[in-house]
Amino acid sequence: ADVYFTPSPLKGKKILVTAGPTKEALDPIRFLSNHSSGKMGYAIAEAARRAGAIVTLVTGASLESPSGIKTVHVRSARDMYDEVLKHYEEADAVIKAAAVADYRPETISSSKIKKTDGQLTVTMVRNPDILLELGKMKKNQLLVGFAAETDHLEENALKKLEKKHLDLLVANHASDGFGNDTNKITLYFSSGKKQAFERMPKKRVAEKICDALAGLFEMSGN
Ligand code: CTP
Ligand code: CA
Repeated sequence: ADVYFTPSPLKGKKILVTAGPTKEALDPIRFLSNHSSGKMGYAIAEAARRAGAIVTLVTGASLESPSGIKTVHVRSARDMYDEVLKHYEEADAVIKAAAVADYRPETISSSKIKKTDGQLTVTMVRNPDILLELGKMKKNQLLVGFAAETDHLEENALKKLEKKHLDLLVANHASDGFGNDTNKITLYFSSGKKQAFERMPKKRVAEKICDALAGLFEMSGN
């Protein structure tokens, strides 16, 4: 019989992937969120699994759970933070593809907010920056962050790479990724290396990110 060789560059690695938007409740009926579909994060979780990793997916998207991947559904940024922390210590790498809401309504009304003739003012307070906190607590984990920008892509990407103590940052223009089945990314490594790709299906983009991560594992000797 034919024997097929399956390359497993992430074999046995414990990889935590976050995906999708967070939803910040305003009252029992309403929430504030963003346009993230979760497709990029799910594609990464599946690509990492195919590459041999043991994957945990923490997701704010309502997509179907991928097979063979432990999936935890969360709603708010604070829920995502709590869930991510549970898995951080044992993780070999974290890939933070989620589009986490930076702000949440200061209070969640326990009953439905009724309309009046006047304006509605909602005070928004800061959510924890999950990735920034992971960067501060980092031991041997490799950290991969994302930046979807509308302008000054490279400048913003490099700032995030440094500020959050990331090993790799995946940058794209907001218009290139959101809602699409394809994406056009540039990778920025903490070593200073930069790698730009053509537009590709998200499945291929996910494989490129996993390849890059495998390279980082190899270099780190883990
Ligand atoms: N991130 C996070 N927690 C937050 C906000 C962002 O973990 N509260 C992560 C995202 O998952 C992403 C990276 O940080 O991997 C960059 O997110 P982005 O929104 O581009 O950057 P911010 O640092 O929030 O800065 P800004 O939105 O002002 O550009
Ligand atoms: Ca943000």
